Amino acid sequence: MSDAAPLSEASIQTLKQAAASHAASLVAPGMAVGLGHGSTAVAVVPALAGRWRRGELDGTVFVPAAHFMAEALRRHGLPVGSLDDWPVLDLALDGADAIDGNLDCIKGGGGALLYEKIVGQAARRFVLVADAGKLTARLGTGHAVPVEATPFALAPVTAFLTEIGGRPTLRRRPDGDPMRTERGNVILDCAFGPLPDPAGLAAVLDARAGIAGHGLFVGLASLAVIAGPDGVRELTRPAS
Ligand code: A5P
Repeated sequence: MSDAAPLSEASIQTLKQAAASHAASLVAPGMAVGLGHGSTAVAVVPALAGRWRRGELDGTVFVPAAHFMAEALRRHGLPVGSLDDWPVLDLALDGADAIDGNLDCIKGGGGALLYEKIVGQAARRFVLVADAGKLTARLGTGHAVPVEATPFALAPVTAFLTEIGGRPTLRRRPDGDPMRTERGNVILDCAFGPLPDPAGLAAVLDARAGIAGHGLFVGLASLAVIAGPDGVRELTRPAS
């Protein structure tokens, strides 16, 4: 949820498309490019395919963070690689659920947070792609932090998250069963409220066994491509 006035669904779709087209222009021939998950990241694919067909991306390979993205890339005839062959990526493009002024963000609405973070950290340059509705003054204001837990640790991780001040809710599928990630893990959407120290919370979550990953991406993005009613802007991470 954005802190600004809400955008209509139609304008969100238009803005996502605008951000996606701009993000596709950051890709150069010969690059190894990571791609995350979610509707905005997937919207980048047709724009990349157009450039590929025009011969603008010779030698470029795409490394998806999720099966859904891999399928989209293949459907558009784009070359798909893996981190085994491209352990260091030139660039990774991904959406986000909420982005603050430091370009720290919450991800994981689509459940692919762990692989998205692996792909993002493998990239020399991690770029967020989003509509302006994703911008927030403070992470946690409108979005819970997704926490991926190994099923064996579900009960102790739930207790731990509550102990550190969160309100965890097990994410479920429409049929009521717990949602499973591509690794077979479960997700706890943990509401903390506005986060005074996202890096501090990320460190606490990183240190806990049983937590396989979490949706706080701190200090990772160097650029955000943001589409708003006034056009597309590139936001750079402020110097720390
Ligand atoms: C997927 O796990 C998420 O991290 C997405 O990147 C995030 O939820 C944004 O999704 P949309 O682009 O669909 O809004």
